[in-house]
Amino acid sequence: MAFDLTIKFAGEGGEGVISAGDFTMRAATYLGLEVVTFKSFPAEIKGGYALSQVRMSDEKILSQGDGFQILFAFNGEAYEVNKPLLKPGTVLVWDGPEGGDFEPEFDWLEKQGVIAYAVPMSKLAKEEVGAYITKNMVALGAASELFNIPIDVYKQQIISKFSKKGQDVVDLNFRALDAGINWVKNNIKKVDPYRLPERRPQKDVIILEGNEAIALGAAVAGCKVFAAYPITPATTVGNYLSEIILKANGYVYQAEDEISSMAIVIGASFSGVKAMTATSGPGISLMQELIGLASMAEIPCVVVDVQRGGPSTGMPTKHDQADLYAAAIGGHGDGQRIVIAPTNVEENFYLTIEAFNLAERYQCPVLFLTDASLSLRAEAVPTPNIKEIQSKLINRPIITKDMDVNLDELLRYKVTDTGISPMLAPGVSPKPYAATGLEHGEDSSPRTRPDVRTMMMEKRFRKLKNIEDENQHLLEWDLGDLQEGEKADISVIAWGLTASITKEAIQRLRKKGYKIAALYPKLLYPVPVKAIEKVASMSDITLVPEANYTGQFARFIRMYTDVKPVQYNIYRGEPFIPAEIEAKIEELVGSKVNV
Ligand code: COA
Repeated sequence: MAFDLTIKFAGEGGEGVISAGDFTMRAATYLGLEVVTFKSFPAEIKGGYALSQVRMSDEKILSQGDGFQILFAFNGEAYEVNKPLLKPGTVLVWDGPEGGDFEPEFDWLEKQGVIAYAVPMSKLAKEEVGAYITKNMVALGAASELFNIPIDVYKQQIISKFSKKGQDVVDLNFRALDAGINWVKNNIKKVDPYRLPERRPQKDVIILEGNEAIALGAAVAGCKVFAAYPITPATTVGNYLSEIILKANGYVYQAEDEISSMAIVIGASFSGVKAMTATSGPGISLMQELIGLASMAEIPCVVVDVQRGGPSTGMPTKHDQADLYAAAIGGHGDGQRIVIAPTNVEENFYLTIEAFNLAERYQCPVLFLTDASLSLRAEAVPTPNIKEIQSKLINRPIITKDMDVNLDELLRYKVTDTGISPMLAPGVSPKPYAATGLEHGEDSSPRTRPDVRTMMMEKRFRKLKNIEDENQHLLEWDLGDLQEGEKADISVIAWGLTASITKEAIQRLRKKGYKIAALYPKLLYPVPVKAIEKVASMSDITLVPEANYTGQFARFIRMYTDVKPVQYNIYRGEPFIPAEIEAKIEELVGSKVNV
């Protein structure tokens, strides 16, 4: 059986639970394990319930999992919130027996079969180390001793994270690790079954967080201008990019607001370079007018939307999949846009590159819908082959005077069979280059004649008419061992982070004998009608799970196809867990216990 363990740190924002999780994730990857993290915290800088969870396995992990096997409860709230998840066999490490703010119900824990270890994290941090902030490192010292987590990786993390705060901070944290180790050695009789394995051969991977992967993807795609206004949970895309893009002769601008950011991106792309912005729901609302300009003027650009709970300020740090309408049809007028969505961190990298390629190819804005959970999620991603990726990038043609090209044919908005007109990099090209938000003729001069308007509208939309056929790689099929023509028990369509969670649920169900046809579209808009109709035709029920209230993709499916999907919606600010989707499918199909 595969090694599959989830350790959760939970407590108050400001107590360092996020660092504890990050350090543990690094330790697991050092051992050669696959990792997927899940973090959630309130919008406040300090206070409120925060959690950081690390799932590790020796096999590929698709989701954050259903729960945990080990819980480090830093305070009473963390214990209360997680009590329902303390299943038989789980381990609770709590802040006691003295110095903490709670005491668990020992009778209940015993009856439940929960193993409880008391480690006085607060007391040791305050009294033995002399700094309350090191409570998390006391916990990690204990974790190392209890669960065979390599202490050297924790020490290395302390050096790399806290050195900039001073050697005294590093020393304090080393002392805290020791305090945790010694407490366990002297006070705890270990009985638990969970031990991390010994180090195994290293895979060729890099550890990336969601937003980091987007930044890296943009840099590899050749993005030269990034302009954005800071907004949770998108800000770190710019932070990461600012560390790498300067080396590639690029620029990161912090604009005065989202409207300016989008204008800078359009201006930069008009002047010939690849450009991107990153924002979240409120920023997407503000950018709508300018996204329309990019559609009308046919300017390639990438708009990353790290979705968070809305509307309005909503829940800035929480998960949601509710910006699909805004991304696809949010602006006024009929404008052509492409919307794509990654399902995991690795795809955050590859699909960002894809977003630039799509923007250049179809000359329009590409909206990239990721989300708050995915932005913070860390995964060990196979090291990409950058040279190979870059050899396949779509770049704008640069035409110079000495080339054998008939410049008269290079009308910027020339009507073509594909709808795609010649677009040159300005400045270096001898042909004037124009762009306008007004309706225009082929040469870009403003025109309002009905025949020209009709012709240009049709030309712009013709560009995307075959986008599904031309981009089959943006449609991930998951048919298991279904044979050609064989009927499935159910069809499932899932997008974004929900897709990777659904995939895990489906893997479990297949082991129980369910026949499932699944489609995980990365291309969401224009809606991939053929693929949706095909997967729906494979069974009598089509399920669309989404983390939004209205079922935005399910409604697009109804709008563009005859498929009538069953919606399954959650809107609590956290992603699905696989068990929920597993249970929903079992409810819809019926039990397969006897298969
Ligand atoms: N020794 C020294 N410093 C330590 C430490 C230790 N043992 N453990 C943690 N810290 C520091 C961390 O380095 C971090 O400081 P930094 O920000 O300078 O890096 C700080 O203490 C917080 O620790 P961390 O582990 O990162 O987080 P946490 O679990 O305490 O939770 C957050 C704090 C993440 C909830 C909070 O910082 C936050 O970001 N809130 C959300 C803010 C937001 O985005 N709001 C939305 C506005 S619209």
